[in-house]
Amino acid sequence: MSRLHWIAASIVAVFAAAPAPARADDATLLSQAREIFKPLPKDVGMPDLPLTAPRVELGRMLFFDPRFTIDANISCATCHQPALYGTDGLAKAIGVQQRPHPRNSPTILNSALSIIHWRGDRESVEDQAIKALASPITNGLPDEKAVLDRLARIPGYAPVFKAAFPDDAASMTVQNMAKAIGAYERTLVTPSPFDAYLAGNVNALSPTARAGLEKFISTGCIACHEGTAMGGSMFRKFGVLEDYWKATGSQTIDKGRFDVTNNLDDLYVFRVPSLRNVAMTAPYFHDGSVMALPDAVRIMARVQLGVMLPDADTRVIVAFLESLTGELPPNFGTIPALPAGSVLPAK
Ligand code: HEC
Ligand code: HEC
Repeated sequence: MSRLHWIAASIVAVFAAAPAPARADDATLLSQAREIFKPLPKDVGMPDLPLTAPRVELGRMLFFDPRFTIDANISCATCHQPALYGTDGLAKAIGVQQRPHPRNSPTILNSALSIIHWRGDRESVEDQAIKALASPITNGLPDEKAVLDRLARIPGYAPVFKAAFPDDAASMTVQNMAKAIGAYERTLVTPSPFDAYLAGNVNALSPTARAGLEKFISTGCIACHEGTAMGGSMFRKFGVLEDYWKATGSQTIDKGRFDVTNNLDDLYVFRVPSLRNVAMTAPYFHDGSVMALPDAVRIMARVQLGVMLPDADTRVIVAFLESLTGELPPNFGTIPALPAGSVLPAK
């Protein structure tokens, strides 16, 4: 190598190694973002609900096992599919024996961080799981006894329950099924480029996504979509300035939380959903009435904030929302081996 070449190569190497200098407004935006949003934790564990490996693995098996529903053909994962980022891609879910569900399946990814269900009618992921196991739409079996009877027909589950709940005299209970499923769901967090950004790596977001973050803040989306989940922390009326169904074209008008509390203040009130992985979880809103993310963003600006969002702003906000797509957790991206056993009586 000639001396001149060597100098040139060294200069290139120095520039390649040095991080792009952060501009002053990049630093301001980052510190603003850090006040509004928080990076994802490693998991959503609770002191009284330990995420031991055997418990999480049992929950994972139960989540993917269709043998606890009436025709043994639907599992939790039917409506919360890995390939669809924990959703089913339908406007509204379809349950056992084609029974229609009135609402859209939200993703289970990061769900332990959020108010549960569109109308907030569940206390926790554990409460959600035990009720899903008893629901005529998602399960169809008549009672707990019928669920336990299914468990008893699959001999391989007994040791797995024992390992997951070693202190319980009788570990095969519906309560423990729900605890195990909840433990599993509490591990399903999806760190994204935005989390790397919040950790200080400004270049983890493209300049377009950073422009979108700035618009997301300045347009006022953060009044509701904030915190670790970018939502999930409060209830708000859908349609603050205009009836939501005029913007979404919803055919059936869901009264939201009013149907849960009977309080008129809750008419058309829903939980503010988390926006993590939102680019992967179409269709949108509680009734899946809107197919495309840019439309959902425009509708939000219009009915929640009274803003007619210019196309350029919609585009950058969508780029920002895309930066909230995380990697699928490995224990969700692959389907577990299930213990053998046939649960339906021979015809
Ligand atoms: C027929 C499809 C279907 C099946 C089967 C199903 N779910 Fe769901 N799931 C839904 C729908 C729809 C909702 C939203 C219900 C609502 O808001 O009223 C939901 C909500 C949830 C939520 C809350 C997510 C959030 O952000 O609010 C969790 C967690 C969840 N389901 C876990 C499970 C588990 C565990 C099972 C199996 C025991 C299961 N689901 C079975 C359709 C389904
Ligand atoms: C006043 C509170 C509020 C503000 C402000 C707000 N949102 Fe929302 N957002 C909600 C609520 C409530 C829902 C759920 C509506 C429903 O029932 O489907 C929602 C839903 C969404 C959804 C659909 C998520 C899904 O999984 O279906 C997106 C996307 C969204 N908001 C983005 C935005 C953007 C972008 C802004 C700013 C332009 C914004 N929101 C401003 C309260 C708000």
